Amino acid sequence: MKRVITYGTYDLLHYGHIELLRRAREHGDYLIVALSTDEFNKIKNKKSYYNYEQRKMMLESIRYVDLVIPEDGWGQKTKDVDKYDVDLFIMGHDWEGEFDELKSQCEVIYVNRTEGISTTQIKTELYGN
Ligand code: CTP
Repeated sequence: MKRVITYGTYDLLHYGHIELLRRAREHGDYLIVALSTDEFNKIKNKKSYYNYEQRKMMLESIRYVDLVIPEDGWGQKTKDVDKYDVDLFIMGHDWEGEFDELKSQCEVIYVNRTEGISTTQIKTELYGN
């Protein structure tokens, strides 16, 4: 069984997220999403509209997602890959090159983002800020 992992905040779930998850799952048989906790978002200077439990519940209802785990720090990825026996680490190309150190542990790929959509864009267009 090929196990895939990806990371993100997944706030205001949108079709770009679903596309990423669909493609990630297609690369393997089991998809783990490491979801940024509200505390970790603070560290990243992000504030999500939905809290961790709400974002988790939505992700868990998506057919491509097998497991949601919390991400609460930058240094966690190498431990997750080890703990969950991950074969493939996958991220959108906005993170191109950032996690190449994991290549000693598993396959690492960066995929194209879906154009024309992001959480930031939704917030900007709805609230004008
Ligand atoms: N993603 C994507 N296509 C988009 C938006 C996001 O493929 N149009 C991917 C990201 O590359 C990442 C995952 O979805 O792998 C989660 O991204 P996240 O940062 O939570 O969503 P964004 O919409 O990019 O949020 P923000 O605008 O706050 O950065």
